[in-house]
Amino acid sequence: MALLNGEQSTELLRAQAHIWNHIFNFINSLSLKCAIQLGIPDIIHKHGKPMTLPELVDALHMNEAKSQFVSRLMQILTHSGFFINAKISENEENMEYWLTSASHLLLKDEPLSVTPFLLAMLDPVLTEPWHHLSEWFKSDQNPTPFDTKHGRMFWEYAAQEPRLNSFFNDAMASDARLVTSVLIRDCKHVFEGLNSIVDVGGGTGTLSKIIAVAFPNLKCTVLDLPHVVAGLEGTKNLSYLGADMFESIPSADAILLKWILHDWSDEDCVKILKKCKEAIQSTDKGGKIIIIDMIVDIQKEDNKAIETQLHFDMLMMTLVTGRERNEKAWATIFNDAGFTDYKIIPVLGLRSVIEVYP
Ligand SMILES: C[S@@+](CC[C@H](N)C(=O)[O-])C[C@H]1O[C@@H](n2cnc3c(N)ncnc32)[C@H](O)[C@@H]1O
Repeated sequence: MALLNGEQSTELLRAQAHIWNHIFNFINSLSLKCAIQLGIPDIIHKHGKPMTLPELVDALHMNEAKSQFVSRLMQILTHSGFFINAKISENEENMEYWLTSASHLLLKDEPLSVTPFLLAMLDPVLTEPWHHLSEWFKSDQNPTPFDTKHGRMFWEYAAQEPRLNSFFNDAMASDARLVTSVLIRDCKHVFEGLNSIVDVGGGTGTLSKIIAVAFPNLKCTVLDLPHVVAGLEGTKNLSYLGADMFESIPSADAILLKWILHDWSDEDCVKILKKCKEAIQSTDKGGKIIIIDMIVDIQKEDNKAIETQLHFDMLMMTLVTGRERNEKAWATIFNDAGFTDYKIIPVLGLRSVIEVYP
């Protein structure tokens, strides 16, 4: 092999490190999952002040011999921004760990906790399909890598396996709580003046429940598949409907689609949107569709945001038949479904509220 010059060897080693980081990216997610399963953020929070390693190991009811391993777990999670060293010391026994805003959001009792989403996305049922991506690419049969692994589509699996149904619904509910808290504060006007709304694919109704309380005169219907809404009880202005959105959607002033269209192909989105259009046009008001989803490319200069959007796009490809869309792709499906105009309200971080008009 020819000898490398200085520049070439630097580049070679940089490339190797780049590959290593990609190979081991999963260690970040699974170390975090481990810390959540052990309850580390909750233990430190309950302690009420920065915690030393021996205090943490003691609270974890672990054998002291595990201390050095806990230290190493805390080290990677501190590096990735889930803990901070409140007191740095040469001696790891004296290090003190405290929470960051990210680990606060993973506390069990935090009302906006993201933990159910984390545990769902890192459950083997949802991570195993990733090992079948290349097999799926080469196959002419399988509609998704999820189907390649599990032999059925995601929604079918959720209907048949109560454990997946339950953890997935919990994950969606946790996201809906966080989104709604921002929506109700910064985007209340979207719901003002409406008499009725159908939350299509509304899961167990977390978002609608909060809207129904904020707008007591608004009649809210949560439509989802029968296994999702089975046994759920409504309130004075909220009801549940077990139905298939591809079949029919009850008429209302507005239809809400939160994290629905990114689950589906362009063709299916047009079918769903046409059903939504029929539903809003049968009322006097003319109505609107309220979509909550990502618009990719919107924060071009933010590399981290682009990475998150690319992750979600791959997730939609692997688990379901959907994709994340840029504005042009959104405009095309709105147009193909017969809508004439839309407005983007970028109030939800990586996601936006999109109002679509007939
Ligand atoms: C990604 S989840 C979003 C849930 C909720 N909108 C949220 O964001 O919290 C997609 C939802 O669509 C529902 N769904 C899938 N296929 C459906 C269908 N054919 N008709 C009605 N709902 C459906 C699923 O059961 C699930 O609750």
